[in-house]
Amino acid sequence: MAIRGRSGVIFRLLQISDCHLSADKAAPYRGRNADAELESLIARAKAWSPDRVLVTGDLAEDASEAAYRRLGEFFSRLDAPVCVLPGNHDKDDRCRAHFPEGPWPRPLRIEAGTWRLVLLKSSIAKRVDGAIELGHLDLISQWMQAEPEHPFLLALHHQPVPVGGPWIDRYMLQEPEPLLALVESHSQIKAVVWGHVHQAFEARRGAARLLSCPSSVANSLPNVQRFTDDGRGAACRWFELHPDGELATGLIGAREEPGRILRPRTIGDTEVDD
Ligand SMILES: [Fe+2]
Ligand SMILES: [Fe+2]
Repeated sequence: MAIRGRSGVIFRLLQISDCHLSADKAAPYRGRNADAELESLIARAKAWSPDRVLVTGDLAEDASEAAYRRLGEFFSRLDAPVCVLPGNHDKDDRCRAHFPEGPWPRPLRIEAGTWRLVLLKSSIAKRVDGAIELGHLDLISQWMQAEPEHPFLLALHHQPVPVGGPWIDRYMLQEPEPLLALVESHSQIKAVVWGHVHQAFEARRGAARLLSCPSSVANSLPNVQRFTDDGRGAACRWFELHPDGELATGLIGAREEPGRILRPRTIGDTEVDD
């Protein structure tokens, strides 16, 4: 059902991240069960009726066929097209076989109403930290030049700015400056979103909001030296993308009251020290 805002029909984008499913359904992930957490979250998220689902990496803990197959079954319950990008735990070929809409191997541009979603690969084989190819940023520049009136949302797995948790900021995007320079020089870029950090975070750069998505299995308290479970379990992020480039966002938690949507926690600006 189309929902209208002041500037026209709103596009509802749901971001899910860091599901960490294993071949063995019973395998614990940070003391939680990844299947059970995701199942509860999907039930809540389905009630929000997304127009599209964006999954930002670490879909599988062990890159197994069985994990990707079960993820496909879970996501199909949302009745919306699914696009994915790989995280440091994923294997591109296996992930691609189950989820053909992704940055395989170049960035993928998807139309979402007047918005353009760009999926960018930042994972590197056998590494936990991330990197992006400069040529891929050139491609995104060309897309923006070709459609100067359209708002863009860029998605990747690794955080391009520190989120304040040394345990995960050790493994952020290496050499993020070219990406951040692109963001600062293009007011068309309204959002940069990622996963990997297992917590919600928000900052600003140029005209863009920089936003992380919590994990669908286990999340950490903010600003701690080591991963420290926040006690809340699965969560994901929703976006309402307005035709004029405005966006609203918030979190859906597996254990929140039905219908209640949390506002994201804001932690200062990008210049925070970790
Ligand atoms: Fe993860
Ligand atoms: Fe990750």
